[in-house]
Amino acid sequence: MPEISKAVLITGCSSGIGEATARRLATGGWTVYATARRLEAIEHLRDSGCRTLALDVTDEHSMQAAVEEVERTEGAVGVLVNNAGYSQGGAIEQVPLDAARRQFETNVFGLIRMTQLVLPAMRDQHWGKVVNIGSMGGRLTFPGGGLYHATKYAVEAISDVLRFEVRGFGVDVVLLEPGLITTEFAANAMAKNSEISTDGPYTEFDAKVSALTTGVYEGPMRRLGGGPEVVAKAIEKAISRRRAPTRVPVTPSARLSILQRKLLPDRVWDAAMRTQFPQPK
Ligand SMILES: NC(=O)c1ccc[n+]([C@@H]2O[C@H](COP(=O)([O-])OP(=O)(O)OC[C@H]3O[C@@H](n4cnc5c(N)ncnc54)[C@H](OP(=O)(O)O)[C@@H]3O)[C@@H](O)[C@H]2O)c1
Repeated sequence: MPEISKAVLITGCSSGIGEATARRLATGGWTVYATARRLEAIEHLRDSGCRTLALDVTDEHSMQAAVEEVERTEGAVGVLVNNAGYSQGGAIEQVPLDAARRQFETNVFGLIRMTQLVLPAMRDQHWGKVVNIGSMGGRLTFPGGGLYHATKYAVEAISDVLRFEVRGFGVDVVLLEPGLITTEFAANAMAKNSEISTDGPYTEFDAKVSALTTGVYEGPMRRLGGGPEVVAKAIEKAISRRRAPTRVPVTPSARLSILQRKLLPDRVWDAAMRTQFPQPK
């Protein structure tokens, strides 16, 4: 029987969780294909033992080429880490649909397409793991983040369904739900928000949401979060186990917030949000 490939392909390794995971897994002896839109942004990961490939999860040709390259060398992508993503904030009434579509294209359709591309070879070797980077934001919502939350709720549903559909082929699906993780995420979210900001009934609200987002990553709440290494560690643990938990909340911020949301009725959650966010009117 041919040897099983446990080669790991990670999307979005230019910074944050993807970068930390690539580094940790390569150092831990895994064969790692670190990928990013800009190859020059991941050159340094070669020093940690990673192989690097260009991969944009919104570009069909780029996704196919990267998966084919790994399959040519390794036989199969053994572990896919669907990590690439960003947050498009803004009040739902005002987010331009193009920006909303781009948000889904990266966070949802990219994840689906990458999964579709790696599954045939995983099935052939009857072994594979799909690790989806969701968010605590797939279990609860904060005002002003509707589009981002919608993508992460979608990732929850996709992970649950996929887990059932591929189990008989020897493939497992693990959903990571990080809380507050200090990466480029907040800065990138601010940049996306300013691209679409307009004057109107939500101007003050948008400004407050932006300030709160930055504040939460820089303020005392940060203590309940962690660096990208804690997510990398949780990923390594999940893929090393024969049977991983289906969902892995990462950091106390995720565990606490998910629990709070579970316990509070919708209107009580809304009231709690009103103590922090201005009600647009
Ligand atoms: N940080 C948090 O608090 C937090 C919490 C929960 C979940 N998450 C999730 O964790 C994942 C990683 O985020 P992070 O915190 O590590 O943020 P980050 O430092 O901003 O990293 C995001 C990565 O995604 C990449 N990316 C964006 N669009 C892409 C595309 N079309 N194709 C390929 N790569 C693309 C970025 O690459 P470029 O450099 O090319 O833009 C970057 O490498 C995301 O899915 C995010 O939703 C983050």
